[in-house]
Amino acid sequence: MNDFNSLPADFTWGVATAAYQIEGAVAEDGRSPSIWDTFSHLPGKIDNNDNGDVACDHYHRWREDIGLMKQLGVDAYRFSVAWPRVVPGGDGPVNDKGLAFYDELVDGLLEAGITPFPTLYHWDLPQVLQDRGGWPSRDTAEHFATYAAVVAERLGDRVKDWTTLNEPLCSSWIGHLEGTMAPGLTDITAAVRTSYHLHLGHGLATQAIRAAVPGARVGVVNNITTCEPATEREEDVAAAVRADGHTNRWWLDPIHGRGYPQDMVDLYGVDLPIRAGDLDTIAAPLDWLGVNYYFRNVVADDPKGPLPHAKQVYLPGARHTAMDWEVNADGLENILLRLTEDYGPEKIYVTENGSAYPDVVRPDNCVDDPERTQYLDEHLAACSRAARRGVPLAGYFAWSLLDNFEWAYGYDKRFGLVHVDYPTQRRTIKGSGHRYADIVRSARGRGRRAA
Ligand code: FCB
Repeated sequence: MNDFNSLPADFTWGVATAAYQIEGAVAEDGRSPSIWDTFSHLPGKIDNNDNGDVACDHYHRWREDIGLMKQLGVDAYRFSVAWPRVVPGGDGPVNDKGLAFYDELVDGLLEAGITPFPTLYHWDLPQVLQDRGGWPSRDTAEHFATYAAVVAERLGDRVKDWTTLNEPLCSSWIGHLEGTMAPGLTDITAAVRTSYHLHLGHGLATQAIRAAVPGARVGVVNNITTCEPATEREEDVAAAVRADGHTNRWWLDPIHGRGYPQDMVDLYGVDLPIRAGDLDTIAAPLDWLGVNYYFRNVVADDPKGPLPHAKQVYLPGARHTAMDWEVNADGLENILLRLTEDYGPEKIYVTENGSAYPDVVRPDNCVDDPERTQYLDEHLAACSRAARRGVPLAGYFAWSLLDNFEWAYGYDKRFGLVHVDYPTQRRTIKGSGHRYADIVRSARGRGRRAA
């Protein structure tokens, strides 16, 4: 048994999902298409040409899924609200049926003793807004804040923990520069403008949530990671600084009132559409920071490669998951310390962490996943070490409750603590899920003893 004793007694133990990855029911009860519906239906964009039309059918099976969370014994559930369900036109009329779904979900969670942690944007922009310019256009940030206010007003009597955005890096760099996520553009100007308007939307939404919900605790979720040079060569060291700017500083500096890092502004060569007052809006004080961590980044100079001219290097002997992501729990400890030292957040949550492996349900209905279990143990031990070293770590959300639609990788990559057999929608708790339940149970026992 690993030693997680340095985690605080009131630590939040959670699981996470996202709307498009699990809900399905894409044309039900007034939901409009999102950019992910469009993108996933383009031939060749998703492995096996999968899409989120049905996914885990969570829209109909959410009660069963809350039952699974109860079995795991978790305290909190991080899910996302689908903007195209709530405001199908992007702006304008509210769809009560869409809102009612989240309303019932929240009630169901609270009845089960599970704290809801909604995220307002996990990448599913209404397609109608994409058609009107998408995130490169400033209007989208304003519409986002209006939609945030609608959700906050409806759920805010029961929901206090709010996340504006999930991983704006992916929406910007992968969606608008690399082109392998929706909306699939490869344009640095669009990508930089997207990042800016996501930040602005985050700031405006933070104000809207606070205005609607007394006592709201608002945070934002970034996927940051350590960026280490592959060698001590000057070129590789400089590449690691660029990778750090692209992955970390671009996302963290502006929300902490430091503006955009000048070295990266120069590298991208795109004018930011800053208006008076924007940078203050973007830097709205936060109650907590969310960190999604999967792997560390070891980089080498790549002068002819794509921005930021730094390529990831695979180290011999390292372990990798089915995503080809290196398993490195020390990276999590290091990034938590870095965040604490450089930005001084009041609280940090690990809002996602997990691993994909090809699981099978055995004839005796067990799913044995020792590698995922080890990944979980190692990363929780890293969290505990970070807490011991002074990181104000308040909780951990395992990615993911369920196997689900893993974006461009489709259903082939399984991250769940619970296995989903897609043809039958049968759920089976994996070995790692049972392990997580044990960890949570023994941590609670410790908490009680300490109290
Ligand atoms: C993160 C996403 C999440 C999931 C995991 C594996 O980047 O936020 O939706 O796909 O990766």
